[in-house]
Amino acid sequence: MTLPSIAIEQILNELQEPVLVLDGERHILFMNQTAISLFGEGFVGRNFVRLFRHADVMKIITDVSDGKNEASIKVALENPIKGVFNFKVTSLDQDTQQSPLLLVTIKDLTDLANAEQMRTDFVANVSHELRSPLTALSGFIETIKGPAKDDVLARERFLGLMELEASRMVRLISDLLSLSKVEARQNQRPSKHIDMVELTKRVVTTLSNTAVKENKHIKVDIEGKPKPLPVFEDEITQVLINLIENAVKYSAPESEITVSICTNNHIAGFTDRVLSISVEDQGEGIAREHLPRLTERFYRVDTHRSRDKGGTGLGLAIVKHIISQHRGRLQISSVEGNGSVFTVHLPYRD
Ligand SMILES: Nc1ncnc2c1ncn2[C@@H]1O[C@H](COP(=O)(O)OP(=O)(O)O)[C@@H](O)[C@H]1O
Ligand SMILES: [Mg+2]
Repeated sequence: MTLPSIAIEQILNELQEPVLVLDGERHILFMNQTAISLFGEGFVGRNFVRLFRHADVMKIITDVSDGKNEASIKVALENPIKGVFNFKVTSLDQDTQQSPLLLVTIKDLTDLANAEQMRTDFVANVSHELRSPLTALSGFIETIKGPAKDDVLARERFLGLMELEASRMVRLISDLLSLSKVEARQNQRPSKHIDMVELTKRVVTTLSNTAVKENKHIKVDIEGKPKPLPVFEDEITQVLINLIENAVKYSAPESEITVSICTNNHIAGFTDRVLSISVEDQGEGIAREHLPRLTERFYRVDTHRSRDKGGTGLGLAIVKHIISQHRGRLQISSVEGNGSVFTVHLPYRD
């Protein structure tokens, strides 16, 4: 039994991958719906090279028209759309004397290639971040063993510096562990209801000690009586710590930091009621071009300053992951010279 040709076309149109059929002259006889929506209309009847002008793709087409059964190749395209694709060309023998048709199936590997690139960049970044304190530590060890061997004062000073570098490494490793823990639990949802006002006040009390040392004051502003919210308590505590610590770190001495909590019924993108917590500082603010990249791992506006202040560049990446685990959203607004506001929106149910 054979399939009627109308069914074959319908089946090809249902496929999630782009499929094209070419005649012996490389004219496009058929494009399935996925191919049309991805690469555009109006190519049926035209030469394949009009759609994909890529030497390596044309080469495997030639190989298969010249008698090879099938061939495939992975290429990065700029046109008709940008991305990484795998092309597979198969010869479809016809029972007549005509030259075989060519079946071209295309697999979009762009997301995979991007994920692989991100992984490679991440490993390179982590190695670099770990190597700097290690190099410093090795240097101090050499000095203590050599030139500063009998100099008690110098030794004390170098040991102090070594302590700083070691604690930098500990912070980095513990941030990396938090990040991977949150990633591993990305699909879990919280069920325990937590009093967010109490949680926020607790975090503020803890962090006030550090803020006071720099003459900065943290104020808590509560609007109404927000109901308890289902959250992972430890994770949301981490979010508030990271945001408030940043506000303290990146603002001027003697300034004020305001943590506000309120509920909102109409926040764009949410169907449910939302609890919004914002952390506002009177620091120097962040230039517009940096805003979309702040939550990337290891992204800092000023790397030296962040390091001097003990930052790892992972704080906001952790914040973003935890918030998306709670199906919430992080909103950042900032005016250079006027301070920044980081707002966390968490839905009551979603
Ligand atoms: N409240 C803030 N004011 C100004 N800049 C900020 C603020 N919060 C974060 N940033 C910028 O965003 C960068 C990334 O923040 P984060 O991920 O917490 O890393 P870290 O604080 O370890 O450098 C910081 O290096 C800093 O440049
Ligand atoms: Mg930080």
